[in-house]
Amino acid sequence: MQLTNIFVSALLATAVSAKGHNGTDKAQSVKSQCSQMAKLTAETKLAANDTKLAQHFDNNQTMIDAFKTKAADAQTKLTTMEANTTLTAECAVIQAHDEAVSACGAMSSIEKMVSLAANDTKLTTKFDGNTTKIDAFKAKVADAEAKLTTMQANSTLTSFCSVQATISQCKEMSQLQKEVAMASNETALATKFKGNDTKIADFKAKAAKTQTKLDALMGNSTLMDTCSTLTKAGTTGASTSTNNAKSPAARVEIAGGVLSVAAFVVTLGMLAL
Ligand SMILES: *[C@@H]1O[C@H](CO)[C@@H](O)[C@H](O)[C@H]1NC(C)=O
Ligand SMILES: *[C@@H]1O[C@H](CO)[C@@H](O)[C@H](O)[C@H]1NC(C)=O
Ligand SMILES: *[C@@H]1O[C@H](CO)[C@@H](O)[C@H](O)[C@H]1NC(C)=O
Ligand SMILES: *[C@@H]1O[C@H](CO)[C@@H](O)[C@H](O)[C@H]1NC(C)=O
Ligand SMILES: *[C@@H]1O[C@H](CO)[C@@H](O)[C@H](O)[C@H]1NC(C)=O
Ligand SMILES: *[C@@H]1O[C@H](CO)[C@@H](O)[C@H](O)[C@H]1NC(C)=O
Ligand SMILES: *[C@@H]1O[C@H](CO)[C@@H](O)[C@H](O)[C@H]1NC(C)=O
Ligand SMILES: *[C@@H]1O[C@H](CO)[C@@H](O)[C@H](O)[C@H]1NC(C)=O
Ligand SMILES: *[C@@H]1O[C@H](CO)[C@@H](O)[C@H](O)[C@H]1NC(C)=O
Ligand SMILES: *[C@@H]1O[C@H](CO)[C@@H](O)[C@H](O)[C@H]1NC(C)=O
Repeated sequence: MQLTNIFVSALLATAVSAKGHNGTDKAQSVKSQCSQMAKLTAETKLAANDTKLAQHFDNNQTMIDAFKTKAADAQTKLTTMEANTTLTAECAVIQAHDEAVSACGAMSSIEKMVSLAANDTKLTTKFDGNTTKIDAFKAKVADAEAKLTTMQANSTLTSFCSVQATISQCKEMSQLQKEVAMASNETALATKFKGNDTKIADFKAKAAKTQTKLDALMGNSTLMDTCSTLTKAGTTGASTSTNNAKSPAARVEIAGGVLSVAAFVVTLGMLAL
């Protein structure tokens, strides 16, 4: 048990050290440039549509004219930014990634709804036995289920989501491991809990449960192998980006932590299929 903990430590230490101090700023800056572009695009679009402008500004011509002047500046800025193909390519990658992440969230939320709708006991509890509410919920779920079926048929998306889920588990292991390590470090405990023995004992009791959970996760060799692979891929991605900033994917994802970089490397491969 102790040995495997050390193994995970080493594994995740690599991940942490790979999460370069540099690169983060760059990734953040690309992200903020992309959101700036999105904002400028929205402004120019609005400025070009008189119907929308009238609605938006309540037919106030003074405000419309002022906005159009501002939008002319926006257009100039946007044109300059759009000329940077490196930037536009990176933004496309970020957008695709964000959309996929949100689709994974939608899928898991619909899955939960479907499972709730199929369990009458749970439905009764949740809706206080109100059959009107229950029927309305069931109708809503039936609609959402059609959407779910479409998404589930997209293997690019389902593979992506599965990698995302694994990454979450790898991250969770890292977190659990830190807790367990802390519970056996008296110095760290004394500092954290300011020498309060009650709190320390509580933390240790909690850590014993955490250990059980961690052992269960670590007993899954498929998961361990995947985490290891992702960590290695993450190391590569991060150092690449720090050194020569060549890979947009890696740079973009550094902001989200090295395991996301790894995800991205994998995802990129999948999107290229
Ligand atoms: C990051 O890199 C830049 C130049 O590439 C350098 O000026 C800066 O000091 C670095 N920051 C850190 C925290 O290493
Ligand atoms: C302008 O905005 C209106 C209202 O939102 C919309 O119906 C219309 O399609 C837009 N026109 C153009 C050219 O985008
Ligand atoms: C239009 O907006 C301007 C600036 O906010 C305001 O001073 C003016 O009173 C508005 N005009 C009308 C007709 O509401
Ligand atoms: C294009 O955008 C990238 C990413 O923000 C930036 O690193 C690069 O310097 C820009 N190139 C030019 C010519 O502005
Ligand atoms: C499948 O999902 C990917 C990732 O979200 C998306 O880019 C692609 O457009 C989807 N394909 C179809 C056919 O909907
Ligand atoms: C329905 O939910 C209840 C309460 O959470 C649970 O005990 C039961 O096993 C569930 N039934 C099915 C068929 O999943
Ligand atoms: C059930 O919910 C509906 C819709 O929210 C509400 O109008 C109705 O009064 C509720 N019935 C009972 C018995 O609480
Ligand atoms: C225990 O925690 C302290 C303070 O956080 C740290 O400096 C020390 O290296 C830790 N000891 C071990 C054995 O991990
Ligand atoms: C230690 O923490 C417990 C639980 O939070 C609290 O009730 C107690 O007063 C604390 N003891 C001291 C000596 O601060
Ligand atoms: C092991 O982990 C993998 C990847 O997260 C998962 O698909 C699989 O169901 C797990 N196996 C067991 C026995 O929990």
